[in-house]
Amino acid sequence: MIILDGKKTSKEIKEELKQKTAELVAAGKKVPHLAVILVGDNGASKTYVNSKIKACEYVGFKSTLVKYDESVSEQELLDKIREINSDEDIDGLIVQLPLPKHIDEQKVIEAIDYKKDVDGFHPVNAGRLVLGLPAFVPATPMGIMELLKRYNVPVRGKHAVVLGRSHIVGRPMSILLGQKGEFADATVTLCHSRTHDIEKFTKEADIVVVALGKPEYLIGEMVKEGVVVIDVGITRVETDENEKGYKIVGDVHFDSVSKKASYITPVPGGVGPMTIASLLMNTYLSATGKIY
Ligand code: GUN
Repeated sequence: MIILDGKKTSKEIKEELKQKTAELVAAGKKVPHLAVILVGDNGASKTYVNSKIKACEYVGFKSTLVKYDESVSEQELLDKIREINSDEDIDGLIVQLPLPKHIDEQKVIEAIDYKKDVDGFHPVNAGRLVLGLPAFVPATPMGIMELLKRYNVPVRGKHAVVLGRSHIVGRPMSILLGQKGEFADATVTLCHSRTHDIEKFTKEADIVVVALGKPEYLIGEMVKEGVVVIDVGITRVETDENEKGYKIVGDVHFDSVSKKASYITPVPGGVGPMTIASLLMNTYLSATGKIY
């Protein structure tokens, strides 16, 4: 069994980007610049945004953080997005989700210039991804594809089962795995809350991607010998095992599933760190004109 080490791989990617950014600077070229908008006081969102800004600093990118109170109006947010859209120095713009209830998330996503949409949430990027055209790919599925590639995991011709059909993870994941390519070309089944007998599919699968947000949902009895398992879950559960009083648990019951797996991502340290690396890669691609 091989652990797909997202922590180590994301560090490698960050080192590569740091080097490439230094080369841009040495050549007198533009330094990649990411803008992040954070609304409200959500603890998890603040942590994610801090990590994104810190990662930018580490690789030498510029970053701009715009913070708003929970009570900001939709109009004020849309005005700021339009201002950033027309700021030529800024290459990437993300609005951290979720947003307060009085703000229409889809309207906000669609207000972002798709050429700066390094989260890959804009319908233009989603559509281009489906068509196999160059596009910004959402960070989590992009990070998973990068892990599969860097570990040389056999994907071509395999049966991949994706659990969960969110716009951010499950749906784009199913499209990427089914695309043409050496580390794709899989036959894909997308399972969701209305699927009858999910176990029938997971037992058949060569690759299982679990993105349900249900702690330790996938257990050893649900998979076959040699399966590749990608765990996207990150749920905080209470524990008295440490001083913090909580621990992070994935959607996979690691002890039982890892006994049968050929490759598996741990939680923490698997998919999570790869998402930030992907956001940085997208920002670099945007700044260097590799996509649009
Ligand atoms: N909230 C949870 N994940 C994400 C993400 O990848 N991007 C943004 N903008 N918000 C999120």
